[in-house]
Amino acid sequence: MCKKIEFNVSLRVLAPEELQPVERTLLERALAQITNSHAPYSDFLVCAALLLENGEIFVANNQENVSFPVGVCAERAVLSYAMSNFPDQAPQKILIVAKRRADTAFATVTPCGLCRQTINEYEIKFGKPIEIIMYTPKGELLKASGIDQLLPFRFNDLNS
Ligand code: THU
Repeated sequence: MCKKIEFNVSLRVLAPEELQPVERTLLERALAQITNSHAPYSDFLVCAALLLENGEIFVANNQENVSFPVGVCAERAVLSYAMSNFPDQAPQKILIVAKRRADTAFATVTPCGLCRQTINEYEIKFGKPIEIIMYTPKGELLKASGIDQLLPFRFNDLNS
């Protein structure tokens, strides 16, 4: 029998009523701004709302480009802006909503690999977990307590 390294991950499933007031604000802000996506190529609209420890909330959308890899996801857009302007404020929570342009229902979205590694970066910088909250088509919320729940075997240290 070979030795195994195991990592158990879990997400909490929350009804909207179970959200904390500040999380409800994040959801409202993300839903209100979803149409600001620049997504003419995928027609997949994404909005991320970020809470910093000083209580500030920032919102950003995916911004696509005719040269596809140039586009940026909503999560990295909001983190780049907030961390450039408030470099001493730890991100506490990031809430993500997504929708295909033609659909009325929302789509399930979880952060892509690049965004997971970016969230990890700011967890390392501040030494604090960042909660990741994802909206689902049923209107429930999936909550990860930190990036370890989405990216268990992540790249964390250049020197190890
Ligand atoms: N996208 C995001 O903005 N965030 C995610 O978590 C998943 C994907 C964007 C990238 C691209 O503009 C579109 O959604 C389709 O992949």
